[in-house]
Amino acid sequence: MRVGILGSGLMGGKLGTLFARAGHEVVFSYARSQEKLKKLARDAKGNARAGTPGEAAKEADALLLAVHWSRIEDVLQQAGNLSGKVVLSCSLPMNADNTQLVVAHSSSGVEELAKMIPKARLVSAFNTVPSEVLFGVFDARRRANRPSLVYCGDEKGSKQVAATLIRDVGFDPVDAGPLRIARYTEPFALLVAQLAYEGKEGPELAYRFERFGD
Ligand SMILES: NC(=O)c1ccc[n+]([C@@H]2O[C@H](COP(=O)([O-])OP(=O)(O)OC[C@H]3O[C@@H](n4cnc5c(N)ncnc54)[C@H](OP(=O)(O)O)[C@@H]3O)[C@@H](O)[C@H]2O)c1
Repeated sequence: MRVGILGSGLMGGKLGTLFARAGHEVVFSYARSQEKLKKLARDAKGNARAGTPGEAAKEADALLLAVHWSRIEDVLQQAGNLSGKVVLSCSLPMNADNTQLVVAHSSSGVEELAKMIPKARLVSAFNTVPSEVLFGVFDARRRANRPSLVYCGDEKGSKQVAATLIRDVGFDPVDAGPLRIARYTEPFALLVAQLAYEGKEGPELAYRFERFGD
């Protein structure tokens, strides 16, 4: 697939690199320096290049939205028309100092995003995992016991695209249901992040999903 990265920081930089290594064609965009985007593309050692958000969006089969909540409007405006595009968002609706969700509990960041880009095909994915584990998960992807990763969205085709990309990074994709389930996965993602960043001696967190009956 052709995957456009909108926000090439901790999440976008690493996921874009792994998408490229998994064989996808990647365009890194939206960082404060063009040099950084070029270096990411070089270091990805796959089919990757640097571009503008508009170039990343053009002809993309999927886009990864990976910016701070305060940058959403700007990056969307630079990306241009996203009608019909599959947009995977890992962006969490956090306040400026990343201590609180600013959208909860009767809605979620990704549902608010859906109002901003109503014609895009949104999936909430990759927000429940700290960026630090991504390369390790990719390196261990051929092992039988893959870690699970929840995603949600309202449309079958875009969820299939998301599931492919999640699997390519090394996770077992777990379909959590429609987009409104993000009301529960976003607070869960915050919990994961807070535990993960409690300092060097902080706890390790493992989670497992089980489905009962049908
Ligand atoms: N990090 C995690 O482990 C994690 C986990 C789950 C969810 N998330 C969510 O994922 C989203 C991205 O997080 P992140 O940690 O990847 O953030 P990040 O490292 O700060 O990346 C954001 C990207 O946006 C770029 N950017 C910021 N301001 C800009 C501007 N004015 N012009 C152009 N580019 C600009 C940054 O550029 P530079 O590269 O030049 O700084 C960077 O590439 C957030 O919503 C976060 O809540 C993060």
